[in-house]
Amino acid sequence: MNRVRIFISSPGDVADERQRALAVVERLQAEFSEALSLEPLLWEQEPLLATADFQSQIRSPADFDIFATIIGSRLGSPLGSQFTRRDGSPYSSGTEFEFEVAVASYQASGRPEPLVYRKSLRGELPETAQIDKVSAFFDKWFQGTENPPVIGEYHSFTEAGEFEELFSQHLRELLHRFLPRPNNLPAPISSFVGRTDLIREITGLLERSGTRVVALVGTGGAGKSRLALRAARGLLPEFADGVFLINLASQHQPALVPREILAALAIASVDQAPALDALTTALKNKEMLLLLDNLEQLDSAVEDINTLVSSCPGVKVLVTSRAVPALANAHTIRVPPLALPDPENATFTAIRDSECVQLFVERAQTVREDFDLSQENAREVLEICHQLEGLPLAIELATARMRSMNTDKLLKKILKGALLRAIHVAVSTPGINPTGNTTIAVKIDDFRALVATYLTIDFGDGSEPLQLALGEHTPEADGSLTVTVDHDYSKLTTTEITITAEIRAAGARGTDQQVVAA
Ligand SMILES: Nc1ncnc2c1ncn2[C@@H]1O[C@H](COP(=O)(O)OP(=O)(O)OP(=O)(O)O)[C@@H](O)[C@H]1O
Ligand SMILES: [Mg+2]
Repeated sequence: MNRVRIFISSPGDVADERQRALAVVERLQAEFSEALSLEPLLWEQEPLLATADFQSQIRSPADFDIFATIIGSRLGSPLGSQFTRRDGSPYSSGTEFEFEVAVASYQASGRPEPLVYRKSLRGELPETAQIDKVSAFFDKWFQGTENPPVIGEYHSFTEAGEFEELFSQHLRELLHRFLPRPNNLPAPISSFVGRTDLIREITGLLERSGTRVVALVGTGGAGKSRLALRAARGLLPEFADGVFLINLASQHQPALVPREILAALAIASVDQAPALDALTTALKNKEMLLLLDNLEQLDSAVEDINTLVSSCPGVKVLVTSRAVPALANAHTIRVPPLALPDPENATFTAIRDSECVQLFVERAQTVREDFDLSQENAREVLEICHQLEGLPLAIELATARMRSMNTDKLLKKILKGALLRAIHVAVSTPGINPTGNTTIAVKIDDFRALVATYLTIDFGDGSEPLQLALGEHTPEADGSLTVTVDHDYSKLTTTEITITAEIRAAGARGTDQQVVAA
């Protein structure tokens, strides 16, 4: 039995519609009684204490599965000053507050599913100020004057009976999404950020009858698996026989992929029959989505997957891989790192709203509750995200260090690491000048925060370690720093080089040491 929590948000002028909404929920509860338990919440029916305002006594719309708002001539009265948006601006009413919380949650986690109903006003004499609020609300969210329109559509109605019919039809359709489907998808253990367009593209493709195989391709840590899981979960209603994850990250033998799929589906293979035969027999008449996660090292498994897809017409496959797999008729979707604004001219809002910075802030808050993006730290956070190339995995690893340092220190550490790696690449590139002087050309444009950098390069071949005071060298106009190293590289293998750096970051007291071993 799946639980479906339904938040019904409606100002006082649509009381009739509110009652009808409740009646719809009750009727649908009877219709879905075997599979679903519907839990409507109308704050008007909650016991509210007189000692606090109602918003602080009502569960957040973010905790619901479906959010329906019915708007007529009123949006409601202003909220107390404890309710403000992240940018500090006040909400013009409780309805707006509930709607915005619900939409933000939908964008972050896909829940609650929002439904919006607008009553056309005829012959009523509403308060002008409220009417203006209502118009401003719809302009803002549905015309996209301030925000990109979040939800493409709202539903208009004139009579309460018409609303009841519409709501009943929409809710019935939505409830099918909550019917239990067989699956082995793990529950997410952290919040999901952004990727709205990609999710729409993936689900759109896999909902289409002609698409059988979709491959998500991108660098390690770009977020392919997380995105695939997210899309797969949203696709549950489409596959009567379920959605199954087959984690292939630790499987190195392509021939064992069919066996892995059998195991994930908990299908006992029949006697000595080859696993692929057992699989095609079992899935012949199934409507199922298989998520084959981390296929990159299993190139030759594609033939078995092609056979599976061609023998089982109701089976679709979603693959993640670091390289484009040679699957027949696959739609390939590139998964880039998370989006970031250009640091040269990004406004605070652009920084705050970028997906990468959102991930940074959310993860930083898990190790430091009091952390938030501010005018003071926004540039540092953006720079950190740029240094980490927007890779979600790198962002998560970096924010874990926020337990013991602030963004200023974290940025310097990351810059130092990047500088050392750049120098390391420069000195260990084979064949620059194997027998004599060589040049370290390091692009230090990104490292202006660092001054007075001392390097020791130990070539590991018994020769004197080389001491360099980089601060005494002047960068070229293009930001590159050229240092000539007199060393016989012919005796070297790159693995022997160790670089120790003593770096004094601008403004930092004392020095830091970092070692890069190849
Ligand atoms: N959109 C996102 N929102 C929140 N967290 C994310 C998002 N994308 C990725 N992550 C997190 O970043 C980390 C790396 O993501 P993921 O494992 O999906 O990368 P990947 O591309 O599959 O990497 P690999 O190639 O190594 O398999 C995970 O901890 C994941 O939860
Ligand atoms: Mg992965």
